[in-house]
Amino acid sequence: MFPVHCQLYFCRLSHEATSELLKNPETRLISCSISATLKAKYPPVPLTDRPQNRHARRWVSIALLSQPAAGSARSRRGPAAWTRAGRGVRAPPDWPQRGARGRCRGGRRREAARRMGTRAGFFEVEILDWKTKEQLCFLDKVEPNATIREIRLMFHKLYPRWYPARQSIKLDPRKSLRDEEILQHLPVGTTATLYFKDLGPQIGWTTVFLIEYTGPLFIYFLFYFRMPFVYGLDERFTSSPHPVVNLACICHSFHYIKRLIETVFVHRFSHGTMPLRNIVKNCLYYWGFAAWLAYYINHPLYTPPSYGKKQINFAVIMFLLCEAGNFSIHVALSDLQKNGSKTRKIPYPTKNPFTWLFFFVSCPNYTYEVGTWISFTIMTQCVPVGLFTLLCFIQMTVWAKDKHCTYLREFKDYPSLRMPIIPFLL
Ligand SMILES: NC(=O)c1ccc[n+]([C@@H]2O[C@H](COP(=O)([O-])OP(=O)(O)OC[C@H]3O[C@@H](n4cnc5c(N)ncnc54)[C@H](OP(=O)(O)O)[C@@H]3O)[C@@H](O)[C@H]2O)c1
Repeated sequence: MFPVHCQLYFCRLSHEATSELLKNPETRLISCSISATLKAKYPPVPLTDRPQNRHARRWVSIALLSQPAAGSARSRRGPAAWTRAGRGVRAPPDWPQRGARGRCRGGRRREAARRMGTRAGFFEVEILDWKTKEQLCFLDKVEPNATIREIRLMFHKLYPRWYPARQSIKLDPRKSLRDEEILQHLPVGTTATLYFKDLGPQIGWTTVFLIEYTGPLFIYFLFYFRMPFVYGLDERFTSSPHPVVNLACICHSFHYIKRLIETVFVHRFSHGTMPLRNIVKNCLYYWGFAAWLAYYINHPLYTPPSYGKKQINFAVIMFLLCEAGNFSIHVALSDLQKNGSKTRKIPYPTKNPFTWLFFFVSCPNYTYEVGTWISFTIMTQCVPVGLFTLLCFIQMTVWAKDKHCTYLREFKDYPSLRMPIIPFLL
């Protein structure tokens, strides 16, 4: 089957790589006693011993590759397993091409580790631009237990303008890797191909929230105090004859002051920053809607709720309960990261009855937030408030569904009764 003196290469392959390999006419896969010998010598690590089983399971087979006549993959690096095995294996055309700055380096230790087929040696990490697939850097001798954070720092040394918070490092062009993920636990061989995306200039989350929430607070007052340029000169600095308008101003201010306090003292954001450009979008949303709502609620022609005090009292009680609930959930979520751990955990109900909504939904803070805006709509009986509430509900439902799916994916023992945002419904 092979020449007398032939060199064989073996590697662990994923399903996708195996099927690609089988498509390639130049590749000869052999399953013979050599494979058994190798397996005996290098027994596979039991799945339970691996920290990230879901990744480990992706490696499904051991392939033995001969050296076909034509084509060399050395200059066309694909996924690591492919290239390690892959002298003579043609990489599929859609795999990234090695750029002009590519280097193939490997010390004796790397070579020895490679020959032995173990993961004991250093790793090589090549980082490609996620769009152009051009190679941006090639890091050799990366410790197997290096985290993505450390790789970001190495990359930053080479490209000082891309500080770590600006970098999105991905294993495939869709999903960013988290800082704490460890290189050897990723589904890669000893040569890892990662993708880099520039997230643009960054701004801290706390600053973002402070800017976002301070705006509505002050904008609302411009309308409440009827500044000269708002409703016309005749109405300047007048006040509404309806007590509910004062109440609405108190509730609106309370809501945003609470959010500011939570931002500073309660939330522990795992992502330190967000792209600067997003702040314009977010501010337009929060500030614009605050102005719109305030304009109608404080308008001289505003008419109070149809059912008078009963409606207002009901709405105020509901508003306060929802605010208390929202705050309690934020405290419960913050407690999950009390010891500084940034690992995502399943949030559970605590002794605080407001957190018992966790029995039924994944994101009770959103449920309470929607409740807050529904009660504000009932209180003011104002169409723009109702529209804003609807928009908030849609936005938070999308996010809640996303978070719910992530919980289901990450935790096998995730409580099955929970829905994303509305108990038993949605
Ligand atoms: N009116 C609106 O349109 C609107 C829209 C969205 C939000 N809001 C309000 O803003 C609040 C915050 O929104 P958000 O989207 O940032 O809420 P979130 O994603 O639930 O996050 C709130 C905090 O809890 C942490 N957290 C969430 N799940 C966690 C878990 N499983 N383990 C550990 N920590 C966890 C988050 O940390 P990480 O940094 O790690 O995520 C963050 O610090 C909402 O509750 C709501 O009151 C209003």
